[in-house]
Amino acid sequence: AQNERESLLIVLNYAKNYFQNNLFKHEEGQSIGYPYFKERGFSDKTINTFELGYSLEGWDAFTKEALKNGYSLDILAKAGLTILKENEQTANPNAQKSFDRFRNRVTFPIHNVAGKVIAFGARILKADKSQAKYLNSPETEVYHKSNVLYGIFQAKNAIRTQDVCYLVEGYTDVISLHQAGIENVVASSGTSLTTEQIRLIGRFTQNITVLYDGDSAGIKASLRGMDMILEEGLNVKLVVFPEGEDPDSYVQKIGSDAFVKHIEDHAADFITFKAELSLKEAGSDPFKRAELIKDMVGSISKIPDSIKRSVFFQKTANLMQIDEQLLISESNKVSIERA
Ligand code: CTP
Ligand code: MN
Ligand code: MN
Ligand code: MN
Ligand code: MN
Repeated sequence: AQNERESLLIVLNYAKNYFQNNLFKHEEGQSIGYPYFKERGFSDKTINTFELGYSLEGWDAFTKEALKNGYSLDILAKAGLTILKENEQTANPNAQKSFDRFRNRVTFPIHNVAGKVIAFGARILKADKSQAKYLNSPETEVYHKSNVLYGIFQAKNAIRTQDVCYLVEGYTDVISLHQAGIENVVASSGTSLTTEQIRLIGRFTQNITVLYDGDSAGIKASLRGMDMILEEGLNVKLVVFPEGEDPDSYVQKIGSDAFVKHIEDHAADFITFKAELSLKEAGSDPFKRAELIKDMVGSISKIPDSIKRSVFFQKTANLMQIDEQLLISESNKVSIERA
C-alpha cells in the first residue's frame, strides 16, 4: 500500500501541474480561468503560492493526456481524478469513455502538512443552480477529509511564530487573508470541524481564533467548533463578521490593517461570545438568563484544565451576576451526568 500511496501522490502532483499549465498556457484557461482569479483579486504570486489551476471544459481532456503520459486508468480513478464508466470497471472493450471529475472549473489543490498535493477542490466560474459551487475529491488512500485542513502547509510557520491559528470556512478565505499578509490561516472547508483537525492545529499552537462566515450557518458552526476546541484543551476565541461577509469578502472590502483591527477589537472568548449572542435576546427574562448560564456552564465543563475552568467560572459569575460556587456545583452535576 506504500507503493500505491506513492503512485497516488505522483499522479496528483501531475494533475496539479497540468491544471496550472491550463491556467497559464492554454487558451481556455487564459480566456476564462485566469480572469476569474483576477476578478477575485488574486495576484500571480498568490495563484502560484496556492498552485491554483483550471480544468478544461471537455469530458476527458485531462484523463486522455494522463493516459498518454503513462498513468493507468486504475490509478487515475483511485486518485479521484477520473470517474470510470461502469462498463469500463467490468473491462468491457466496447466501453464508453471514462471522464474527468473536474471540468470547466478553477482548481484548488489541497496539500498535506508536508506540501504534497493529496486532493482538489474545484469551483464553478459562474453561479449555476444546477451544479454544486465546489466539487471536491472523494476520500482516497491519501485523502481523509476529516484529517485535513486547507492551507496548513502555507500557514504552519506563521501559526507557530504568531502562536495563534485563524480558522476560516473556505478556500478563498485562506487565500485572500494570506495575500493580505495574514498567513496564519487554515480552513475547515465547509464541513464541521473534527477532533483530528483540532489536534493538527495543536501541533503548532494552542490558540485558535474562529473566523466563520457572518451568517446563521457560520454562527452555528462556530458554536459547535468552539465546544470541540475546548474539549481538546486548546484556547478558543471567536469573531463574528457583519451579516453576509466572510473573511475573504471583508478583507477585500476594508483592507488588511482594518481587518486585523476588526479581529483585535472583536475577538471574544467563548463566554463573552455566548453572552453577546444571547444576552440581548435574554434581557432580564430570568428563564432565558438561566438557560444561557447553563449553556455557559456546559461549555466550561468541557475544559480539561481545572485552573482554566476556574477562571471561566469567575468570569461567568461576574458577567451574569451569579454566585460562583453555584456554577461550580452545577458543573459537577453536569460531569456526573456525563460519567
Ligand atoms: N463547500 C463545498 N461545497 C459546496 C459549498 C461549499 O465543499 N457546494 C466548502 C468549500 O470548501 C468552501 C467552504 O465550504 O470554500 C465554504 O463555503 P462558502 O462560504 O459557501 O464558500 P466560499 O468559500 O465563501 O466560496 P466563494 O467565495 O468562492 O463563494
Ligand atoms: Mn489510509
Ligand atoms: Mn457561508
Ligand atoms: Mn464563505
Ligand atoms: Mn466567499
